[in-house]
Amino acid sequence: IETEVEPLDAVIVKAVEIPEEKITYEGSQLWRVNVAGEQVDFVNYLQETGEVSKWTGNDSAVDVLVRPDMIPRVSRFLREREVKYDVIIPDLQQAIDQENPVDEEALEELAGRKGHRMEWTSYHHLEDIHGYLDYLSETYPEICSVMSIGNSVEGRPLKVLRISRGEPNVPAIWIDGGIHAREWISPASVTYIINYLVENSDELKADYYVLPVVNPDGYEYTFRGDRLWRKNRSSPEKGGVCIGVDLNRNFGYRWGGLGTSKQPCREIFAGTGPFSEPETAAIKNFFDASAADFKGYLTFHSYGQYILYPWGYDRRVPPDYADLERLGQQSAQAMKSAGGSGSIYTVGNSATTLYAAAGGADDWAKAYLKIKYAYTIELRDKGKHGFILPANYIIPTAKEALAAVLTVTEACTKL
Ligand code: ARG
Ligand code: ZN
Repeated sequence: IETEVEPLDAVIVKAVEIPEEKITYEGSQLWRVNVAGEQVDFVNYLQETGEVSKWTGNDSAVDVLVRPDMIPRVSRFLREREVKYDVIIPDLQQAIDQENPVDEEALEELAGRKGHRMEWTSYHHLEDIHGYLDYLSETYPEICSVMSIGNSVEGRPLKVLRISRGEPNVPAIWIDGGIHAREWISPASVTYIINYLVENSDELKADYYVLPVVNPDGYEYTFRGDRLWRKNRSSPEKGGVCIGVDLNRNFGYRWGGLGTSKQPCREIFAGTGPFSEPETAAIKNFFDASAADFKGYLTFHSYGQYILYPWGYDRRVPPDYADLERLGQQSAQAMKSAGGSGSIYTVGNSATTLYAAAGGADDWAKAYLKIKYAYTIELRDKGKHGFILPANYIIPTAKEALAAVLTVTEACTKL
């Protein structure tokens, strides 16, 4: 007797992706530790033992995340050494829950009306950002084109939008965001800049190459797994447990120097070698193949409100640092007026102004690509919210970021 056999693929139950559990920061706190002189070593010690996790800081104050179970011992440790600190965010999970109210209905309505879901009152998933880039290239093909310059570790495309009127002899400017996954204000501001440049394309003075999310895997992971994830999502060790390379330590100039780590578990792990990661390698390959005349390289981060120029690998400055300082100050002025809140941005070379960190994109752009105006811009705020900047700050912050872009553009046209 012949029995009918069901085709095999019909009976295979599709592997359901089990969503990894979302990390909660209930009871975790953000502390600002005020350090005088040698005291910074105490905080570095706590960071190395894993008792705190550093968010940012220089040699007068360090912001650290303290998990609830560590609060008593870290507090005692600091008190015994007479190190003063303030609690800036008493419950991080509460801050996270309030950061990004999303009106899904309004977004769907927007998508139906405009053909994309991008707007700047909330933080968006990668899908919306990429959808917006695709929309622009389809709607304004004369000035916008999207290209994927490579793929991330998990296979997501690295989408660059080129905005150009095709005029000869204009400078090229690179703009990127989202190298560090948790710095949500960065891709949000970069897409705002894109929107402005496209809407005002009759005034374009440069060719822009914009990569809003350098680290798409990490960025998605901050929505789905861990809001405070920084690195990419590679697994550098065979059988190892720790994931992720700090992409802003993975560029090929002075790789592995100060402010980096060889340990895969650290937040500042530089990778197994320069450009070991597909995300940074894609950027290198893009520039190696490009004939455009790049004069500006702007990479947006948060937070702290800094305009940083090279070098980051050490407390030194490039020969033309006076030009970088001058344009940095001009940009800071423009940013102060632009956002409507008189934000103060501090200008300086990154190792001196913030901390030394080798293998950054800006140093590589300056040293290897020889792009004159290479800046890392740390957007808002100065620590009240840190990485968890509520979505209603996107527009004012993005206006500041845009002001910097326009100021740098102006200078590039005069080179
Ligand atoms: N907060 C940024 C980072 O840690 C600063 C980078 C400044 N540039 C540098 N080359 N260190 O990556
Ligand atoms: Zn960053």
